Amino acid sequence: MVTTSRHVRRSDDERQAVELNPVFLRPGEATSLPKHRMPRGESLPETAYQIVHDEAMLDGNARLNLATFVGTWMDDQAGRLYLEAADKNIVDKDEYPQTAAIETRCWTMLADLWHAPEPDRTIGTSTVGSSEAAMLAGLALKRRWQHARRAAGRSADRPNLVMSSAVQVCWEKFCNYWDVEPRYVPISAEHPVLDGSDLAAYVDENTIGVVAIMGVTYTGRYEPVEAIAAALDRIQETTGLDVPVHVDGASGAMVAPFLQPELAWDFRVARVVSINTSGHKYGLVYPGVGWVVWRDAAALPDDLVFHVSYLGGDMPTLGLNFSRPGAQVLLQYYMFLRLGWEGFRRVQAAARDVATFVSGQVGRMPAFELWNDGSDIPVFAWRLREGHTENWTLYHLSDRLRMRGWLVPAYPMPADLQDVTVQRVVVRSGFSHDLADAFLADLRAEVAYLDSLTGPMPRDEGRPAFHH
Ligand SMILES: Cc1ncc(COP(=O)(O)O)c(C=O)c1O
Repeated sequence: MVTTSRHVRRSDDERQAVELNPVFLRPGEATSLPKHRMPRGESLPETAYQIVHDEAMLDGNARLNLATFVGTWMDDQAGRLYLEAADKNIVDKDEYPQTAAIETRCWTMLADLWHAPEPDRTIGTSTVGSSEAAMLAGLALKRRWQHARRAAGRSADRPNLVMSSAVQVCWEKFCNYWDVEPRYVPISAEHPVLDGSDLAAYVDENTIGVVAIMGVTYTGRYEPVEAIAAALDRIQETTGLDVPVHVDGASGAMVAPFLQPELAWDFRVARVVSINTSGHKYGLVYPGVGWVVWRDAAALPDDLVFHVSYLGGDMPTLGLNFSRPGAQVLLQYYMFLRLGWEGFRRVQAAARDVATFVSGQVGRMPAFELWNDGSDIPVFAWRLREGHTENWTLYHLSDRLRMRGWLVPAYPMPADLQDVTVQRVVVRSGFSHDLADAFLADLRAEVAYLDSLTGPMPRDEGRPAFHH
């Protein structure tokens, strides 16, 4: 007899009958299971697997997802490590001391890559992604400012953070969740990224910091960190305010060190106190890992670090979550060992070559005007050329490409360019020249189809604002 649920006991014959069922005719497969209530009893593992597997099949194909920055390909050895480490909780540092040591090695390597004056005296941590890293970096800015204000006998009630209107949503969240006033510097045709001009109008004694983005989400363009820091130097000369810079290098902090090694955007710029990146973007790891590094211990107020004893030992913890997968940290270390500096350079250069090739082809199409060419991070965007058509928009093109499996988002730019709609391609490791050719052929075919229409496509109403 085999127990299949608390109440039902099946004979071996019955069990055999179940196992003999053709796949898709096993219990639960010939009917559909409830979707929003937990089923009363168990399913065979094969059945449950098949149902989940089949439903996930309806998602888009990750490799054809040109919208995401996040890793969609790793090699077989990485896959093996992932499975082997799937049960490791990063917070169990006393129990998994090697994973903990590897985590520290990873952010120390990043500190060195980002030219920290003394990499071994920096402080950092892994996170779930750049969003958590941004929360921690933002909190450190806020807490440092609060301490300084209180020490000077001044009010610490109204902190603000200055950044481009094109910041990723994580910074809007940071300000919302932690009661910081966001001060957005609008982008414009003359200033398509935050470049330091006009900063004095936004910065005051309540400014906890300025965020500079290495690889603006909307377009992939770098913000000139040195120019932003120089503007803050001038502000300091006239007002005495010493405002730190945090670099959101979600993508670019894993690209610039390899492709633009001469560009000073990192700890070489004295005002930069902290940097975040997404290990799961151009760090080439599957989703679930980010990093934040502070220039030195002084940049991270000690009262943000907790010490817990219930894991054994005295364990410092810094992070929004307690438990978190440890596997991604091991995967990051694997990538560092597997590729080294030269390997990373080659992988990122290959992505940039594909990006600049595809952007060149897109730029030559009469329908489009390039916004940028993918030579900062391998990401580029385009808009419809003015006067090209009244019949279709980039939203229609996005839908048409989706029919062929390509996920290429169209979205409005942020303030003050919200009337401009762009479409963007993110080139990642795994988007080969061959796939790029297939994409271009489909793009040309769909543009030709839309151009052949004799009347307008139905209007696109109420597209949600884009954040990625
Ligand atoms: C500039 C920038 N910052 C932060 C994020 C958020 O990163 P994550 O998805 O790792 O939380 C992104 C994501 O695209 C980004 O482009």
